[in-house]
Amino acid sequence: MAMCYNLGLEVTTLIWGIPLNNPESPDDVRSFYNRAMEGPLRMLFGPLGLQGGGWPLLNLERLFGDAASLLEVGCGQGLLLEKALRRLKPRRAVGVDLSDVMLEIAWERLKRRGKTETIQVAQAEATTLPFQDACFDGLLSMSMIEHLDERALMKFMGEARRVLRPGGRLFVWSFSPRSPIVLARQTMTGRSSDELRLLAIQAGFREARSPRVGLPFPFSSTVLAYRE
Ligand SMILES: C[S@@+](CC[C@H](N)C(=O)[O-])C[C@H]1O[C@@H](n2cnc3c(N)ncnc32)[C@H](O)[C@@H]1O
Repeated sequence: MAMCYNLGLEVTTLIWGIPLNNPESPDDVRSFYNRAMEGPLRMLFGPLGLQGGGWPLLNLERLFGDAASLLEVGCGQGLLLEKALRRLKPRRAVGVDLSDVMLEIAWERLKRRGKTETIQVAQAEATTLPFQDACFDGLLSMSMIEHLDERALMKFMGEARRVLRPGGRLFVWSFSPRSPIVLARQTMTGRSSDELRLLAIQAGFREARSPRVGLPFPFSSTVLAYRE
């Protein structure tokens, strides 16, 4: 499914002629996802839920245990948040994303499913999270950091640490440098799991591991890091 999703974005780039500039700015990324989701793909990614819950085999229970509050950064259409709500039953689930069109799709889905009381979504950038310190138990980010350059990624890691409570967990999934999508599209940055763990430690996380999460997409990197 992740593969379909990314193929979809590639097709969008080709057919609708929506290029991403190199290097990407947050405005480029926002308008890319906005315009991609304004075409017929909106139907596929929105109501039809292509992407199959984002990541069908992701074991949220293993990653976040009994987290009572969860933030997803780069939540897209909110599919994974919905799944997290079903599986983990957190008291609070919040998603932020740069793209207002992605968030519209997320909000429409959540409304249709009567989930707007429990899941909130808001427009925000990963490098400046609009939350107070230490207010989430878990922070999740899937397929978002490949849009961040080194400086922005470090800022995001710092923000993640800031908004997590002591004992909170950060889980990030991204493409590795050998991933076909990264090789095909020079605007995305792939990172290895080693790099991600190192960055997490540099950002002040106490411990970092790279669990295999059974995703149906090869060439991926992960980090699960613990806030002191
Ligand atoms: C490939 S999509 C993944 C969506 C979702 N995480 C999933 O796995 O289903 C990447 C998402 O990250 C968002 N994004 C990219 N850069 C961002 C940033 N700097 N801050 C917040 N969101 C960002 C995009 O708008 C897009 O919705």
